[in-house]
Amino acid sequence: MGRAKRVVLAYSGGVDTSVCIPYLKEEWGVEEVIAFAADLGQGDELEPIRQKAFKAGAIESIVENLINPFVEEFAFPAIRANALYEGRYPLSTALARPLIARRMVQVAKDLKADAVAHGCTGKGNDQVRFDVAFASLDPALQVLTPAREWGMSREETISYGERFGIPAPVSKKSPYSIDLNLLGRSVEAGVLEDPNISAPEEVFAITSSIDEAPDRGEEIEIGFQAGNPVSLNGVNLEPVQLVTEANALAGRHGFGRIDMIENRVVGIKSREIYETPGLLLLIKAHQELESLTLAADVLRLKRQLEMQWADLVYQGLWFGPLKQALDSFLDCTQKDVNGVVRIHLQKGNATIIGRQSIQSSLYNSNMATYGKEDQFDHLAANGFIYIWGLPIRLWAAMRRN
Ligand code: ARG
Repeated sequence: MGRAKRVVLAYSGGVDTSVCIPYLKEEWGVEEVIAFAADLGQGDELEPIRQKAFKAGAIESIVENLINPFVEEFAFPAIRANALYEGRYPLSTALARPLIARRMVQVAKDLKADAVAHGCTGKGNDQVRFDVAFASLDPALQVLTPAREWGMSREETISYGERFGIPAPVSKKSPYSIDLNLLGRSVEAGVLEDPNISAPEEVFAITSSIDEAPDRGEEIEIGFQAGNPVSLNGVNLEPVQLVTEANALAGRHGFGRIDMIENRVVGIKSREIYETPGLLLLIKAHQELESLTLAADVLRLKRQLEMQWADLVYQGLWFGPLKQALDSFLDCTQKDVNGVVRIHLQKGNATIIGRQSIQSSLYNSNMATYGKEDQFDHLAANGFIYIWGLPIRLWAAMRRN
């Protein structure tokens, strides 16, 4: 390592990324560290974080609000893709990484830095997402990854930091590793490392427990246009506002908790607790509207491609060619996803109770009805079934001989 003199570091204010600042300077000969933190709606106070980077020795400390692009360019496409990694995790953390990486590459260019850096360890997915995103945006850019290489334990990291005036974490007792943004919270480590120990209530912060959720349910309506959520209970909302309110509504009723064993890119199974109330609710509603508005064959293929889309986002391939190709397919399908879905929220459940699309419904009541308006040609079924069943009838007859 070495050579890089001026580096843009992905900065969160936590111990690891703070220690990266003196470490890069003392051990790797970096002269100027520019800290870069993104506001993704995590609700942290960002000015203290900005100051903390200066105290740790950064020459410049940037905090940028990226909440609008985060929701519009990353969360909404994930909703349109109904993206659920391994069928369950809506990628709340994974979606943030390519955005942060994209902005860091730009900042590095603008400020004439010769490298970027992050404080991810060598065991997680986020290192993969950062490194691959950097590489796909600027293949020549040098990426420094001190926390992957320094080989310090948590205690050693803290005492290294203390030598450079980085305070030990205030609540040394919180054993959890937490990632937070507007789309949700992810919690790992501590007692959660035993997959058979129930998550203690203290790990949750943005959803009610089933016990504490109100007994009384609540009916809500979510409106979509071209696959994007645009309204809640009949009120048009800007994307960020809409996700914020969906979080509050679903979270209040205890919907959106996930407890799963997840397969990381680096081959490890890990136990994850997520709270992603709004995002899960919006995906559920969106899926429902697609069942009303997409043709059967399109819907079937889309369900398969959604899995691929979720996998590649999880695996850090956001800026790659498969993502582009899948997005063309998704975009083409979404122009018809217009309408309103009604949902009943109660005690941890979000139950679909109705769906409507004035512009794009493919539901034909004259075909569906069992009443006297029925226009379906029942006799036509004879010929259809004769031909449809012909191969299997011939096969069965042959086997009997
Ligand atoms: N397992 C999730 C993912 O790979 C979340 C990881 C976030 N980090 C954390 N310290 N909880 O997207």
